[in-house]
Amino acid sequence: MAQLPQRALGKSGINVSALGLGCMGLSGVYGEVDDNASIALIHAALDSGVTMLDSSDLYGNGHNEQLIGKALAGSRRNGVIVATKFGNLGGKGGKFADGRPEFVVSSCEASLKRLGMDVIDLYYQHRIDPNVPIEDTIGAMVKLKEQGKIRALALCEASPETIRRAHKVHPIAAVQNEYSLMYRQEGEETMKTTRPLGIAFVPYSPLGRGMMSGHIADPATLADSDSRKRHPRYAKDNLEHNRSLAQKVDAIAKRKGCTPAQLALAWVLAQGDDVIPIPGTKRKDRLAENLGALNVKLSAAEVAEISSAVPPGAAKGTRYPEGQMASLYI
Ligand SMILES: NC(=O)c1ccc[n+]([C@@H]2O[C@H](COP(=O)([O-])OP(=O)(O)OC[C@H]3O[C@@H](n4cnc5c(N)ncnc54)[C@H](OP(=O)(O)O)[C@@H]3O)[C@@H](O)[C@H]2O)c1
Repeated sequence: MAQLPQRALGKSGINVSALGLGCMGLSGVYGEVDDNASIALIHAALDSGVTMLDSSDLYGNGHNEQLIGKALAGSRRNGVIVATKFGNLGGKGGKFADGRPEFVVSSCEASLKRLGMDVIDLYYQHRIDPNVPIEDTIGAMVKLKEQGKIRALALCEASPETIRRAHKVHPIAAVQNEYSLMYRQEGEETMKTTRPLGIAFVPYSPLGRGMMSGHIADPATLADSDSRKRHPRYAKDNLEHNRSLAQKVDAIAKRKGCTPAQLALAWVLAQGDDVIPIPGTKRKDRLAENLGALNVKLSAAEVAEISSAVPPGAAKGTRYPEGQMASLYI
């Protein structure tokens, strides 16, 4: 197995490859999938030195965890950091989050069963529940850790205040929020809190759901089940503007001799050694391309140039459809 540069998951004592693999797309969120091809992709990632796989019980309603379980059956499990999440209801019955302690426990049991594993390495609360004090949710996670069912605690879409409160109950290893050239204001605020506390920052959708690669899908051609169809960044009124941002990235990438996806990921990686992006792809060639970002070294001047080519707030369209915005960054 190849060795990639390593980064620490906060102060948990766990190190992972500087780029993880986001597995959400392997459960049909971005169109058709084939499980055998997905398992081969996961194996290719591990063989290339990727050691962190990012999942959630939400992705494909458990399909994603089952897929990872299959891919890691037997000795493949060794040395892999399995990250999964609980508590994102996705708007079912008008609810977006469940952080009740009893729900934390039952969710963990169900995830372990689907994964076919004894322990989850990194367990995230996927959405913060505004109706349950974060201290109570973290308290339940601490018990799971004491029972050996999880190794490290993490939060998603958490605001600085929630992160500080949670970290007082038990050290948080990682916070996963959306962060890319396209959407970064909340991520920047988050890092101001995670960094001094020694918490790793895991940017999700680091390619802006594919857009910064310059390969921008035409929403009209996507299947109804493809979530990009509903994302405002892909909406008709926003698409051309956002494409122009990708073109700026493309122009700098050409000069730098790399692909736009590599430049966009290198820019994210350059934000600090505590930053561990998890780009997602279904394709082995793109996996290799994305890992190539680890070899793209940017000077401070180049980072600044890229930052100002796509300045904070430049993207058009909210991060999620309007109805979901209130469930984020709580
Ligand atoms: N915590 C949360 O709420 C949350 C939310 C969203 C995502 N996530 C996590 O973050 C991971 C990554 O986010 P994401 O998948 O939404 O977005 P992303 O990594 O920004 O982009 C993925 C999209 O870009 C395409 N892509 C990837 N590499 C490419 C390349 N080199 N050239 C051209 N296109 C490329 C992929 O298509 P192909 O498959 O066709 O390559 C896919 O459609 C997810 O898998 C998930 O684990 C977490």
